[in-house]
Amino acid sequence: MKTPTSPNLLHDPLIIALDFDSAAEADTLVNTLGDAASFYKVGMELFAATGPDYVRSLTGRGKRVFLDMKYYDIGETVKRAVRSAARTGASFLTVHAVGQVMRAAMEGRGDSDLRLLAVTVLTSLDENDVRQMGHQCTVSELVAMRVSQAREIGIDGLVASPLEARAIRALAGPEAILVTPGVRSQGAAKGDQKRVATPADAIRDGADYLVIGRQVTRATDPVAALASIRAELQTAVQAA
Ligand code: C5P
Repeated sequence: MKTPTSPNLLHDPLIIALDFDSAAEADTLVNTLGDAASFYKVGMELFAATGPDYVRSLTGRGKRVFLDMKYYDIGETVKRAVRSAARTGASFLTVHAVGQVMRAAMEGRGDSDLRLLAVTVLTSLDENDVRQMGHQCTVSELVAMRVSQAREIGIDGLVASPLEARAIRALAGPEAILVTPGVRSQGAAKGDQKRVATPADAIRDGADYLVIGRQVTRATDPVAALASIRAELQTAVQAA
């Protein structure tokens, strides 16, 4: 498990999700935000539309990239895919928290700077789904088992919903990188997200990085929306 430790704001904790289906749309936001944002999430939608060249274009402009690909395949394929992902210059990459997948990802990452984040149980899955998948345990027991296995394998960090951040931080230890999507400022539109926490709560509960999507990307003034989240975090840190 690697730096940074939590909670702190020594690094830029805000990762903006580029949930777009073209480089042109993504670039419109990146150019609008300019120096206000330093870290972007590229997920399956944008990656399928633009490929690794777009990731390289972001890293080439000095931006950090969280490649949210949630890899889950046979070991050899994962190893080779992670090796390719590392060559894009991305900082973070997600894989599912399944033993064989995580071990292969560690091999593929080798001694590159790419940090691996494990996704324990998708937040869209409930107790019933987990039972149907054949697990004889609750969602939180499965999350705990997977965090512990990720730790044993040496995965760098975890993706957690803000509501499970505190529990996952306790299980994963202080060194794990904890990234939480699903955050919303008080009063901001939730969209299809049901279980959200504020950015300040997520950081207080142990998150190192927050993935910010529509609250900034669909705002009429993205720069102002991002500035207001930063101000909110600053106030929370000063009050702590
Ligand atoms: O809802 P919002 O637009 O803020 O979502 C931002 C990003 O966080 C999206 O890319 C979404 O896929 C991701 N997300 C996630 N897990 C959740 C909620 C959101 O990975 N539980």
